[in-house]
Amino acid sequence: MTTATAQAAPNIAFIKYWGNRDNTLRLPMNGSISMNLDGLYTRTSISFQPSLPFDQLIINGHEITGTGLNRVAYILDIIRGMANIHERAEIVSENNFPAGAGIASSASAFAALALAGSKAAGLNLTEPELSRLARRGSGSASRSIPGGFVEWQVGTTDDDSFAFSIAPAEHWKLVDCVAIVSASHKKTGSTEGHAIAPTSPLQAARVADTPRRLELCRNAILNKDFDAFASIVELDSDIMHSVMMTSTPALHYWKPASLAVMNAVRQWRSEGLPACYTVDAGANVHVICLDAESNTVNKRLREIDGVEDVRVAHAGGPAQLVKNGD
Ligand code: DP6
Repeated sequence: MTTATAQAAPNIAFIKYWGNRDNTLRLPMNGSISMNLDGLYTRTSISFQPSLPFDQLIINGHEITGTGLNRVAYILDIIRGMANIHERAEIVSENNFPAGAGIASSASAFAALALAGSKAAGLNLTEPELSRLARRGSGSASRSIPGGFVEWQVGTTDDDSFAFSIAPAEHWKLVDCVAIVSASHKKTGSTEGHAIAPTSPLQAARVADTPRRLELCRNAILNKDFDAFASIVELDSDIMHSVMMTSTPALHYWKPASLAVMNAVRQWRSEGLPACYTVDAGANVHVICLDAESNTVNKRLREIDGVEDVRVAHAGGPAQLVKNGD
């Protein structure tokens, strides 16, 4: 056993994961499609040490205890079981993007954890095995293991609910311009949101229609058809937010500035600028456009009232081992 360091990128979903059929295993109600975000990463080093009485987690220089540590220890327990080891681990993790940047860190965090943890324990897991392991920490983390444009198949059990690449990052020069309208922490996190998704009368219809949206999105990406892509990505985001808004309790993530950005993006597209929006469980708006137009989109977004900042990310690669050994 040695120290292993891995890094993984966050991802933005084009067809969203919302709701689980098994909350513990994080088996989703529907498949999803995303793009990894280049230049942003979580880098995590793990070493199992006989002298440690418990797992110790340090994120960006701060020791984390409680729920955050428990969620990580749950994945380490799975790894310990697979490798038949009992040592506790020291986990040191850094994000190169700030909290409040409109990009969730749980996907990159659990993808890096799955890769570094399994390597440090002496395991050599395949990509599907790593994706399944990352999924149990955070569903969207399953999609940060493979590179580029990624689909997480819904699967039937724990064994076949994993993600795979449908096209490499170089396939299509898409850019995510994240319009930051609120840097404050969201009130209801994704995990609680997934749990109440079935309370919305709209969730069953959203789930039933997902294979159709997945196919349209997959084909739009493979054919680099931006118009088809834009229609299905905006529809999927709006459907998920309809479910969120009609859950009990209701989840309203949008702020007035979120709507202002969505309306502006639709207007720009009608005038010929290829851009579309998608919004996760928060108020910030991810505006997806072609590389050639990203400077224009960035500049126009900054002119909208309520947009505090814009972050730009291109399509990114798979989770990677940075170091294995002392
Ligand atoms: C709206 O993967 O963050 O971003 O499994 O509880 O960690 P947990 O949830 P998470 O949910 C992501 C929800 C989403 C849509 C998506 O990324 O597909």
